[in-house]
Amino acid sequence: MAILIIASQDRPDWWARELRTHAPELDIRIWPEVGDVDDVEYVLAWKPPRGALACLPNLAVVFSLGAGVDHLFADPEFPAHVAVVRVIDPYLTAGMREYVVLHTLHYHKNQPALDRQQRDHVWDDRARELRQADEQGVGILGLGELGRSCAEALTRLEFDVAGWSRTPKDLPGVTCFEGRGGLDALLARSRILICLLPLTTETEGILDTELFSKLPNGSYLINAARGGHLVEEDLIPALDDGRLTHVTLDVFRTEPLPADHPFWDHPQITVTPHNAAITDPRSIVIQILADIERHTSGAALSNRVDIGLGY
Ligand code: NAP
Ligand code: GLV
Repeated sequence: MAILIIASQDRPDWWARELRTHAPELDIRIWPEVGDVDDVEYVLAWKPPRGALACLPNLAVVFSLGAGVDHLFADPEFPAHVAVVRVIDPYLTAGMREYVVLHTLHYHKNQPALDRQQRDHVWDDRARELRQADEQGVGILGLGELGRSCAEALTRLEFDVAGWSRTPKDLPGVTCFEGRGGLDALLARSRILICLLPLTTETEGILDTELFSKLPNGSYLINAARGGHLVEEDLIPALDDGRLTHVTLDVFRTEPLPADHPFWDHPQITVTPHNAAITDPRSIVIQILADIERHTSGAALSNRVDIGLGY
């Protein structure tokens, strides 16, 4: 039995080092040094190249090295019979919670305008006219591991929090909406909208002109989910016509964001380099090894992805 790491874009040597530290007896290989393909039963993967998984005849489980699994299903040759496990990890959840709270507070305190005023040496008394947190409607698209934790943190800060999911939810202090029928009501009350959806055929391109038109005028957007959720060409027109005031983007259709992309220089767009929540090999490898042991002994895997739903 061999474990193969296919993660050229995500610290392959660190993942291998952690695996070897905790399980020195295991046969660990790093793509593209696969050796005998028949040996490989488990793969740790982040953005594997097309066909890389399909050429492993005895592959049983793919461990996504992130919470999202769209990077696996983007491969048209993905072997649909294998089990997929994704990351659910307290450090990852904390990272996202911190990112969302940071940028929500930034907008709540009107910081982008204050930054402009400092640049122009303007002392504007109107800057004292801020809303209270409980007057600030914050909407979260996606109430899964990450969305729920962000909702709880923002509720503790007394924001007026609502969330949207595919199936009904009941979360203390959070107004919950579900399904396509519930989306408009969430949008209408969200002055700060946060996207924490998985990227699936249902959610691809959801952040578009039509959605922006259903938000209160002058809203803020934080997209920390996937670049594919945003219809990029719809964003700058929505900022120009005042529908949106400012947006924070951590994820992009093309990553790294090309140096000549207009988002880099736009004064109403904050760009971060897909670092909202980073997987920490030190804690995740322990979970993966426990899952391999479970799988070997015939027990159920943890955090298994529903391939039919795509998340
Ligand atoms: P999750 O636990 O699977 O939660 C997904 C949520 O989205 C669930 O509440 C689900 O509804 C909802 N949802 C899915 N499809 C929907 C639809 N068609 N309509 C309405 N709601 C829908 O995922 P997670 O762990 O919270 O992670 C969310 C995403 O964050 C990941 O997929 C990844 O893309 C992104 N992410 C980004 C970073 C970063 O650094 N930027 C880091 C980690 C993750 P149900 O609850 O009803 O199933
Ligand atoms: C990061 O984007 C993840 O999916 O964990």
